[in-house]
Amino acid sequence: MEIISFIPSWFLPATLFLFLTSIFMYVLRWRSSSIKLPPGPPRLPVIGNLHQVFGSKDNIYQNVWNLSQTYGPIMLLHFGTQPFIVISSTEMATQVLKTHDQKMCTRPYSKASKRLSFNYMDAAFAPYNDHWRDMRKVLASEFLGAKRIRSYKNVLKHEIECVVRSLSLNSSSTTVNLDEMFLSLINNVVCKAALGDHTYREKTFNGRTLMEIVDETAVMLQGSFSDNFPAFAWILDELTGWNRKLDKCFNDFDGILQMVLHDHLDRKDTKTSDQENDFVDDCISRLTSDEIKALLMNVFNGSTDTTATTMIWAMSFIVKNPRVMQKLQNEIRSCVGGKPRVDESDINKMTYLKMVVKESLRLHPPVGFLMTRECISHCEIGGYDILPGTKVLVSSWGIGRDSRTWKEDPTEFLPERFENIQVDFGGKSFEMIPFGEGRRGCPGYNLAVSTVEFTIANLLYLFNWETQVGKNEDLDMKLAGGFPFIRRATPLCLVPNKYN
Ligand code: HEM
Repeated sequence: MEIISFIPSWFLPATLFLFLTSIFMYVLRWRSSSIKLPPGPPRLPVIGNLHQVFGSKDNIYQNVWNLSQTYGPIMLLHFGTQPFIVISSTEMATQVLKTHDQKMCTRPYSKASKRLSFNYMDAAFAPYNDHWRDMRKVLASEFLGAKRIRSYKNVLKHEIECVVRSLSLNSSSTTVNLDEMFLSLINNVVCKAALGDHTYREKTFNGRTLMEIVDETAVMLQGSFSDNFPAFAWILDELTGWNRKLDKCFNDFDGILQMVLHDHLDRKDTKTSDQENDFVDDCISRLTSDEIKALLMNVFNGSTDTTATTMIWAMSFIVKNPRVMQKLQNEIRSCVGGKPRVDESDINKMTYLKMVVKESLRLHPPVGFLMTRECISHCEIGGYDILPGTKVLVSSWGIGRDSRTWKEDPTEFLPERFENIQVDFGGKSFEMIPFGEGRRGCPGYNLAVSTVEFTIANLLYLFNWETQVGKNEDLDMKLAGGFPFIRRATPLCLVPNKYN
C-alpha cells in the first residue's frame, strides 16, 4: 500500500497554508522591525503628547519648537492616538515641500473639512486629485487672475480712503483698535471682490451675519475630538453637541451662500455691459453651486484673518521699534513726494517696507503650522521612514526663528537682515515659509503681501502712531494661546497723529 494513501486529503493544503502564513508573518515582522520612525518624546496613554504641546505656559508653537530642540528637526508626536510628524528646520522642510512634495501633498480627512467644503469640492482641504487641481486653477484664474486683482486693488484703494477719512476726523484725540480696523477693511475688500458688494457682510441668515458664520466655519475647521481619538470620541462629539454645532454651521453657511447665488442668478439677465463681473458671476456658468460655495469658503477663510493678522503684527513691530518707524516713514515720504496718497506704483520703490513686512512674517507668520498634510506613499526623510497615512505638520513659526539659518539675533525684529539674505515666497527659498511651498503652497501670497504693503504704507505716510499710554517701546507683544492663528493677546490700540 502506498504511504500517500494514509495522508488525509486536507493535509497538503493545510501545510501549504501554514507555510505561506509563516513566511508572510516573518516578512511582516522583518519589515516592521526595519522601519525607522523619527524620535519623539515619551507619550501618555490615550492623550499621547497633548500635555506637552498644550500643557505648559508658552504658546503651542513655542512648546513644539522647544521639543524639537531635544528630539530633532523631524520628530514624532501623538495628538491623542494620531501620529504626526513635525518638521522644524529649513533642510527637512525642503525635503517635505520640494523633494518629496508629490508624496506629501494630500490633506487628511476631518469631519468638519469634509462637510464645510461640500464634500471636498474645494481647493484647500480636498485630497490631492484631479478635482482639487481643477478647483485650484479656477481660484488662480478667477480670484487671483489679473482682471480680478485689478478690481480688488481698486476696492482696496477705496476702502483705505474711507479708513483714512475716518481716522483724520478723530486724529490725535481717539484711540483706534487696529485689530477691528484691519479685519473690517479686509472683509469689505474680499466681500466686494468675491460677491460684488461689501454689504453682503451684514446680510443675515438665521440671525447671524455672513462674517459671523464664516468665523464659525474657521472655528469648526480646527477639528473635533474624533479627529484625534477616532476609535471612541465620536460619542464625545455627539454628547458635547459638536455634531449639532457642525450641522448648524453648515446649514447657515450653505443657506447664506445660496442667497448670494440666487441674487447673482436673478440679476444675470438684467446686467448691463458696464457692470463689472465679480468672482461669483464668473464662476456661475462653469461650476456647480457646491463648487462655488466651497471655493468661497476657501476665499474667506484663506484671505481675511490671515491678511488682517499680518497687518496687525507688522504695525505692532513697527510701533514698538521707533527707529524702524522713523526709517520707514522717511522712505515712504520720500518715495511718495507731496502726493495726497501712496500709489501702488510707489510701493515698488520702497525696499525697506518690503523688508519690514518680511521680517514681521518671519517672526510672526499668522499661521504657525502650515495646513496639515498627509503622506500618500512611503518616503524617507532625514533617514527616517514616513509611512502612507502619516500626518505632517510643518512649523513655519520654528523655521523662521531657527538660529542655524537666522544667525543674527533670530528673535529680534531686524528688517535690515534682508539686505544680505535673499528670500522669496515663490518656491525658491525655504528659510522662512509663512505661505508654505510646493503643490499645496498658498496661491494667494502675492495678493496678500501687496495688500499688507499698500495698507501699511498709506497708514504710515499719513499718520504718526503712538501707544495710548507709556512709550512705544513698551508695547505689549504677548501672544494669545489660540490655534491655528498666531494672534496678539491684547488688541492693538494706538493713537494716530496726522502728519502734515
Ligand atoms: C497673509 C496672508 C496669507 C497667509 C499667511 C497664508 C498662508 C497659507 C498657508 C500657510 C497655507 C498652507 C500651505 C501649505 O500647506 O503648504 C495656505 C494655503 C492656502 N491659501 Fe493662503 N495665506 C494667505 C493669504 C491667502 C489669500 C489672499 C488667499 C486667496 C484666496 C489664500 C488662499 C489659500 C488657499 C486656497 C490655500 C490652499 C492651497 C492648497 O491646498 O492647494 N491665502 N495659505
